[in-house]
Amino acid sequence: MSTKATIHQIEETFQQTFGSPPETVVRAPGRVNLIGEHTDYNDGFVLPAAIDRAITYAGRRRADRRVRVYAEDFQATVEFELDDLQRDNEKRWSNYLRGVSKFLEADGHRLTGADIAFGGDVPREAGLSSSAAVEVGATAFWNRLLDLGLDPVYVVKLSRRTENEFVGVPCGIMDQFISALGRRDHALFLDCRDLTYRHVPLRADVKIVVCDSGVKRALAQSEYEVRLKQCRKAVAELAAFGRAVKSLRDVQLSDLDAARGTMDNLLWRRAHHVVSENQRTLEAVKVLQAGDLERFGELMNQSHESLRKDYEVSSIELDRLVDLARRQEGLLGARMTGAGFGGCTVNLVRADAAEGFAQAVARGYQEAGSLTAKVYVCQASDGALVST
Ligand code: GLA
Repeated sequence: MSTKATIHQIEETFQQTFGSPPETVVRAPGRVNLIGEHTDYNDGFVLPAAIDRAITYAGRRRADRRVRVYAEDFQATVEFELDDLQRDNEKRWSNYLRGVSKFLEADGHRLTGADIAFGGDVPREAGLSSSAAVEVGATAFWNRLLDLGLDPVYVVKLSRRTENEFVGVPCGIMDQFISALGRRDHALFLDCRDLTYRHVPLRADVKIVVCDSGVKRALAQSEYEVRLKQCRKAVAELAAFGRAVKSLRDVQLSDLDAARGTMDNLLWRRAHHVVSENQRTLEAVKVLQAGDLERFGELMNQSHESLRKDYEVSSIELDRLVDLARRQEGLLGARMTGAGFGGCTVNLVRADAAEGFAQAVARGYQEAGSLTAKVYVCQASDGALVST
């Protein structure tokens, strides 16, 4: 389903649910990360793109402090008061909007009640950041409905804070950043330490193809937290050797070479992934700008190997999809994308080969196991704060 169709659909849903057209409509896209994986919470570099699958919010102000929200994807309604914002342990989908509303008010932005309908076509639990789209969409929705004039980076930070402190998932900042500030036909290069960023054009003769393994990321959250702690421990060990490091961002491969004999081997491998991934990402941005997509693809392939061997966040299914991809005509590079342990791979494929690629990988995956892969040929899209 195209994003246009879902926007229209949510407008219709609003009309049917609340009896008149919405005042404001906002869409926030999901994302795919091209390179720079598990680097954001290490103050490192990332290169994601927003995709043409999004969550749409449609709504209208109310005169009181009541929020009525209808979730199209769950066909369910929730009502809450802005003066009593608690977590909902049953209708968990409402916590994103509750959390965003709570933190906006805590920061001094007085909200009004509202009737809201939301939903979209970002697959859930597939590693394409549907939660970030729901959070960023909620923040951008309030911003536009009430003309709050929020700074874009504040929108990103508040959305992430909702995920970390209200929903309770300790993610980095990449997903919310790209959902808010992605740009059509561009990737976004972000320095997660100082939050400076730049859009890098993607060539029209290549396509981003996403293959969903169909495996929900069951282990993702607990293992994500384990990796996060391991990175902190690695920093502490490196600092104990007298190196001036605040995060793995400050570490060079030569530092790691020097520490190899003394550092705990598991922590060394985790750190090696992050440090080498930062280097790959910096090079990837350079070669993308220079139009050298062969090299870009090689860096993606190396990223996958590093995530598989050093960081150990891949899975049999993701490796299978990557192996299948590498045997196809027109493939430039393939890797797992997102947190890992299920979810998707991202593939850079020559445009003229993309459809054939998609079919061949889906067929091969089906033949090799019992699962079906969903394959999406994506278009890099505008973020929630970029589109009109
Ligand atoms: C998840 C998190 C991001 C990032 C990636 C791994 O998507 O939400 O912040 O850490 O995993 O790169």
